[in-house]
Amino acid sequence: MRVHVADHPLITHKLTVLRDATTPSPTFRALAEELVTLLAYEATRGVRVEEVVVTTPVAQAKGLAISSPRPLVVPILRAGLGMLEGMVKLVPTAEVGFLGMVRNEETLQPDIYAERLPDDLSNRQCFVLDPMLATGGSLIAAIDYLFARGAVDVTCVCLIAAPEGLAAVEAATAGREVTIVVGALDEKLNELGYIVPGLGDAGDRLYGTV
Ligand code: URA
Repeated sequence: MRVHVADHPLITHKLTVLRDATTPSPTFRALAEELVTLLAYEATRGVRVEEVVVTTPVAQAKGLAISSPRPLVVPILRAGLGMLEGMVKLVPTAEVGFLGMVRNEETLQPDIYAERLPDDLSNRQCFVLDPMLATGGSLIAAIDYLFARGAVDVTCVCLIAAPEGLAAVEAATAGREVTIVVGALDEKLNELGYIVPGLGDAGDRLYGTV
């Protein structure tokens, strides 16, 4: 598994405002979107491309085009939805699929309650959006699901990760092509499963339910 922790003052600046408990939802949403666009730049470094030739007004020029099958962007509902616009702004030709996950209170494992993905994921490059990599449970379930459906590599874009979550994803995905791109690696998880210092509940802060 490759992990890239963003190291850029603009990313840290935007994250700092997101972390601030007094930042209202509209500002939080706008900043989360901008932040994802910056992270998407790094996350798409390995996007598959093919060489093309275009004719400029002066001559022919060699260039690159995103190759087929198109990358698939998969926000994990609900909070990952707040990252979608920022991602597709940078990769407008990507296809978008959705995965809804909820914690099963009996097994304590994440269950998939909604799924809208193309039937055939074979040979697909997938970009999973989930803002908070806390225990890693839902991200691992999403990665497993995408590989089981034929995906060949999965890049996860997260705003903040806890070391415990990163370690769990690493252990669960050994030998597979998985990359994590994250805005910051925080200190730890607390006993309630929140990232410390984190930013609280990303879904609540995005959608104004606090
Ligand atoms: N999910 C969140 O939204 N925040 C956390 O800190 C952990 C999981």
